[in-house]
Order: sequence, then C-alpha cells, then structure tokens
Amino acid sequence: MNELIDQVFFEECANYYPKSIEKNSLQQKLSISSDQLTDLIQKYKKHEFPLEETAKTLKFTLPMLSINQLSQQLKEKTIGSTLKFFPVIDSTNQWIKNQPTHALKNGQVVFAHKQLAGYGRNAKSWSTPAGKSVALTIVLKPTVPILRPYLLTQLTAAALYNSLKSYVHCSIKWPNDLLVNQKKIAGILTESVYIQKDPSYIQIGIGLNTNLLNADLPSCLLGLATSLREETGIIVDPNDIITDFLLQFENLYNNFITTDDAEEFLSICRKNSTILGETITVHQQNIIREGTAIDINKDGFLKVFYSDTQQSELLTAGEISIRPVY
Ligand code: BTN
Repeated sequence: MNELIDQVFFEECANYYPKSIEKNSLQQKLSISSDQLTDLIQKYKKHEFPLEETAKTLKFTLPMLSINQLSQQLKEKTIGSTLKFFPVIDSTNQWIKNQPTHALKNGQVVFAHKQLAGYGRNAKSWSTPAGKSVALTIVLKPTVPILRPYLLTQLTAAALYNSLKSYVHCSIKWPNDLLVNQKKIAGILTESVYIQKDPSYIQIGIGLNTNLLNADLPSCLLGLATSLREETGIIVDPNDIITDFLLQFENLYNNFITTDDAEEFLSICRKNSTILGETITVHQQNIIREGTAIDINKDGFLKVFYSDTQQSELLTAGEISIRPVY
C-alpha cells in the first residue's frame, strides 16, 4: 500500500468524525479491494488507533488531525505552508534529520499521529499514542541568520501557552515544558542542524497530549503527565488547537526575526512560569544544587540564586535538568 492510500484513508475517516463511513464507499475512494481495506484497518488497529468498525462501517472515535483542514487555515502563512503527515513514524525530528537539507522548506511542518521512537531532551523517550497526542516538528530555514536561536524554545513555549490558555490553566516550566496541575501536558525539543559552523536549519519538535487518558500512559508517567482531555473532561479538536498554535508561533517568530527583541514572548514565559520565585534543584553534570529561580533574563537564561554560594548564576537550557521543590 502506498503513502497516498494511507493519507486518503485518514483524511476520509477524519472528515466523517464523529459519524461512520461506509466501508464500500471508502473502498471506492481509495480504489482498493475489500481485502486491502481489511488489511489497512487491521494495520492501524494493531497500532491502537481509535478506530471502531462494524461489518459495513468504520469510524474514528476521536477527532484526528487533518491535512486538509490545516492547510485550509494556513494557506496564506509561512509556517505550515508545506505540511507532511505520517500515520506512524519513528520520530518527526529524526525523519527531518534523515532528509537532504535542500529538500526541507522554511516553515514546513511534519506531523505524526503515532511515533514509535519519539524523543525529548537528554534523549528521554517521548510517548505518542495513536491519535491521542500530537507530534509535530517545524522546520526553520531563515534567510537571515537568527542571532539568538536558543530563544526559540521560549518563543515556542509562549505560543503554546497562548493556544492552550482558553482550555486549561497552564504554566511554563523553563526551559521546555508546559504543565497543568504540575503535570506535563506538552514538551518542546529544539535542535539546530549545523553544516560547517552555521545552522543550516533549526527544527522545533513539539509533543502535546490532547485526547489521551491516564490509562494510555506508561505506568512510569502516571501522575507526571496529563492531557487536555484529562484536565477538561472534554474531547478536544486537535485541528483547532494546532492551527491556533501555528498562527501564534508565526506572529511571535516574525516579530522576533525582524527585531531580535524577545521581550514579547519572554514576558509570557516569566508571567506564567512555574518556577520563578520557587526553590528548585539543579542537576548539572552529576552535581545537584539547590537554589531559588529568580528571573529569566533577556537571553532566555535562568538566573538562580544558589544556597551554597549565596550567589546568582545564569543557566542555559542545554546543560541542566531542574525540579521545583514543592
Ligand atoms: C521534552 O519534553 O523533552 C521534549 C519532547 C518533544 C517531543 C516531540 S514529539 C515531536 C518531535 N519528535 C520527537 O521525536 N520529539 C519531538
């Protein structure tokens, strides 16, 4: 089966949600035999997609991201001007790294309904259960160099905050997490790919838990992760949230690359920070220190006042892991 058949299968079923589609009509649209359709359905059931079938009908039991819906909303924009969808992939960030640089477009966004080997900071694995969590990666190939690319994680956190705030009361845990009730709802992983010494492109991977339930989480994440559905009690439409997020991102990004002024998004990160003013533990190269998170400075670095030295030091995102002490 080819990629196009999978894509049309997903689009058709997604567009019918919450209704069922007749298998006969789906088969005709895909120009495949009924055995081939059965194989396709089995394949996605094995990957635990939220699919429900009767002898004659098929439906998604949750709203799915749709390339048609997103491209309609984003057609005038740079971010989202090229969209690529994978039903199942190892990792959207890894897929991009495997492409020749010239094949990647500025503003391209790669989505997956399910990742088999999603990863986050410090090579930690990131779970993306099929159709219940959104995995996406934005490719940036700016024509003028971004002077401070390390600020893009904070920019992304602010855009995510803006697009989630009408659903949940969330906060930003510097440098790359969004939390609700102290549980992680979204994570960001920014990677710069260098050819010689200049970044040839930057990719920003985002994992957002939309409609997963606690029962979908691996046991090690119970109590540590959450989703929009768990927090609001309602099934959310990922198309609305992701469209809004990409529009928010584009606004902040355009302002940032034209002015190199980060205050617009850093003020959102400061105002809604989980850790500013809190006692935190900093894990840095096997050393654990306690201090108070004081500020996020104009470069997006975290200013920490350490108890051992009674001095403040700046932390960059790359070198630490932090835990608030509650
Ligand atoms: C973190 O919390 O450390 C960051 C998690 C980032 C996960 C996203 S999901 C889409 C993209 N593809 C990946 O393999 N990782 C990022």
